[in-house]
Amino acid sequence: MERTFLMIKPDGVQRGLVGEIIRRYETKGFTLVGLKIMTVSQELAEKHYDVHRDKSFFKGLVEFITSGPVVAMVWEGDGVVASARKLIGATNPLTAESGTIRGDYGITIGRNIIHGSDAIETARTEIALWFKDEELTSWESSMKRWLYE
Ligand code: RTP
Ligand code: MG
Repeated sequence: MERTFLMIKPDGVQRGLVGEIIRRYETKGFTLVGLKIMTVSQELAEKHYDVHRDKSFFKGLVEFITSGPVVAMVWEGDGVVASARKLIGATNPLTAESGTIRGDYGITIGRNIIHGSDAIETARTEIALWFKDEELTSWESSMKRWLYE
């Protein structure tokens, strides 16, 4: 089954949005298979955002991600990678659609609450970077037959 990596950024944690964000993915029907709160090291933040290493915002982004606790999660379900990004909304919260997490709760691009893997392959890499195998739990929801045809 497809999996994705989501990370509630320090602003999402500080603003008390952890429960609200988890609720959105739970009620959508996805299955939570990994969850932890943690402070991110400089090394992990730089690896995670390695594709942006040469961008002007990289230093500020790494400083921000390491500035306070984040909530790292792995969610499972059919089409979860693309769907999770849809629920997150556009990178800039001011242009993100209402009803999305960023559209409903954010104002600026540098405080956009949550990260989600952008492709199935990226999700694999990010899950391996953030979680050890033994930190992930495979389980089948008793609601599965009501969610899948
Ligand atoms: P994320 O990786 O955090 O899920 O966000 P994303 O895919 O929607 O956007 P991405 O292009 O990967 O950018 C990563 C994060 O860098 C910050 N950013 N700042 N100042 C800027 O122009 C700028 N552009 C990107 C954002 O916090 C974005 O989430
Ligand atoms: Mg990205």
